Amino acid sequence: MSARIYIARDSGALCVGGEEIAAAFRKAFEKRGLDVEIVRTGSRGLYWLEPLVEVARYKGRVAYGPVHVGDIDGLLDAGMLDGGKHRLGLGLVEDIPWLKNQTRLTFKNCGIVDPRSLEDYKAHGGYKGLETAIEVGPEAIIEEVVNSGLRGRGGAGFPTGIKWRTVAQTPPQQKYIVCNADEGDSGTFADRMIMEGDPFVLIEGMTIAGIAVGATRGYVYIRSEYPNAIEAMEIAVRRAREGGMLGKGIAGSKYDFDMEVRAGAGAYVCGEETSLLESLEGKRGEVRAKPPLPAHIGLFGKPTVINNVLSLATVPIVMTKGGAFYSDFGMGKSRGTMPIQLAGNIKHGGLYETAFGITLGELVDKVGGGTRSGRPVRAVQVGGPLGAYFPRELFDTPFDYEAFAARDGLIGHGGVVVFDDTVDMAKQARFAMEFCAIESCGKCTPCRIGSTRGVELVDKIKAGQDVAENLIVLEDLCNTMKFGSLCALGGFTPYPVMSALTHFPEDFGAPRKCLEAAK
Ligand SMILES: Cc1cc2nc3c(=O)[nH]c(=O)nc-3n(C[C@H](O)[C@H](O)[C@H](O)COP(=O)(O)O)c2cc1C
Ligand code: SF4
Repeated sequence: MSARIYIARDSGALCVGGEEIAAAFRKAFEKRGLDVEIVRTGSRGLYWLEPLVEVARYKGRVAYGPVHVGDIDGLLDAGMLDGGKHRLGLGLVEDIPWLKNQTRLTFKNCGIVDPRSLEDYKAHGGYKGLETAIEVGPEAIIEEVVNSGLRGRGGAGFPTGIKWRTVAQTPPQQKYIVCNADEGDSGTFADRMIMEGDPFVLIEGMTIAGIAVGATRGYVYIRSEYPNAIEAMEIAVRRAREGGMLGKGIAGSKYDFDMEVRAGAGAYVCGEETSLLESLEGKRGEVRAKPPLPAHIGLFGKPTVINNVLSLATVPIVMTKGGAFYSDFGMGKSRGTMPIQLAGNIKHGGLYETAFGITLGELVDKVGGGTRSGRPVRAVQVGGPLGAYFPRELFDTPFDYEAFAARDGLIGHGGVVVFDDTVDMAKQARFAMEFCAIESCGKCTPCRIGSTRGVELVDKIKAGQDVAENLIVLEDLCNTMKFGSLCALGGFTPYPVMSALTHFPEDFGAPRKCLEAAK
């Protein structure tokens, strides 16, 4: 039997030479007259080990990494194809503690399957969820998703099954499934990993959603900065269609469902669901007032389910193993697992899927291994650019929607960005206001004008100008934005600003008494 190795084609791996490594291996095999198949997969998400090369062995895949072109001859001489010993050897990939300690449900096949092969997806248990869905029908699907406790992974954490039920209960007509793959949060890459590493799981999830609510058409709105994800999804959609898993009578059933890929318009606010719908309709990405909810009047004025990539990609496992299986993981009202993305100044950055309940401290210190710079961790921003900054004193916060909200934070899309003690938190607060000013869709005044005034205020405070008075104005402005903005872009920008001010007043040149005066 010929040997087989696996090298990721995921953007993260490509950035550090994944393509060059694959080409160099191909050349080396040719030169040595070796018959070796190179399978291009997604990434396992252990990014500090990329380019990671895995060799198929009878007991599992043996990993080597990070591999550079200059290592290849040495690896082959060391008998890498037989799992031979080498300084880059990591043993069985599944036994690497970082991977072994995870609970991979949504990501169970990512880094394992060939993302361009429908057959490989099926060989790894793919489309079993759809099989069940077809068998049980719409009402039972929704029941299962409700029972799983799955909440939207895009940020707001709204129960997915309830959203589906709302759309299902609208009168029969053209309905749509829209997948939000705009993934604009800082430090997040889980959606991209799924689309590049296991695209069929997303297609399967969208198809199940279509059956559940009576929608026959779907769209995946992918940010334009993700060309590899766009390509991977387009190939997978085509292959699913060719294989009878999209189109009329999917998988030989009575249900029709087809979908297409759309490239986003390059604005953070286009990730906001109503703005995304405007953009999908070919208009400028501007937020719509709610109500009406997209579930009632969505894309092209029709009932629409809008879900994040991770929410939809989790549905197949819910349908395969059952809602009760999924809801068995987690804590409180946060059920199941969360694909957490560790980024920023962190030693071990990557994708860590685990049940809700792990503390922020465990994630940063134990899983992430502290900072890459080796300096002390000073702050962590969770939940993207609109998320709060957490100091070490709050590292006992469990990863749980309600626990984070109780501490004026949010989980968002699960991005964790780590900063060491060289960070200037006043600069970060200014950045939050500036980001909002740049990305604002301009529809409402608190966000459009408030963010620019916010930048000016932080500048004045930093310059030591009327600090006590300007702190009062800044807090007042934050409250106006929080309670007066039409959407969460303006509404949540105060969270990073106020958390920076509350936990790191010294960076603003603001003595505690000034802060107390501002309260
Ligand atoms: C400014 C802004 C940007 C957003 N960006 C995204 C995004 O990139 N991806 C996403 O899934 N949700 C994003 N959301 C949340 C969506 O509005 C929406 O809640 C989500 O797509 C619903 O899917 P879910 O229930 O599966 O989370 C954003 C919200 C706001 C206010
Ligand atoms: S808060 Fe900002 S982004 Fe949201 S609707 Fe208002 S102006 Fe637009």
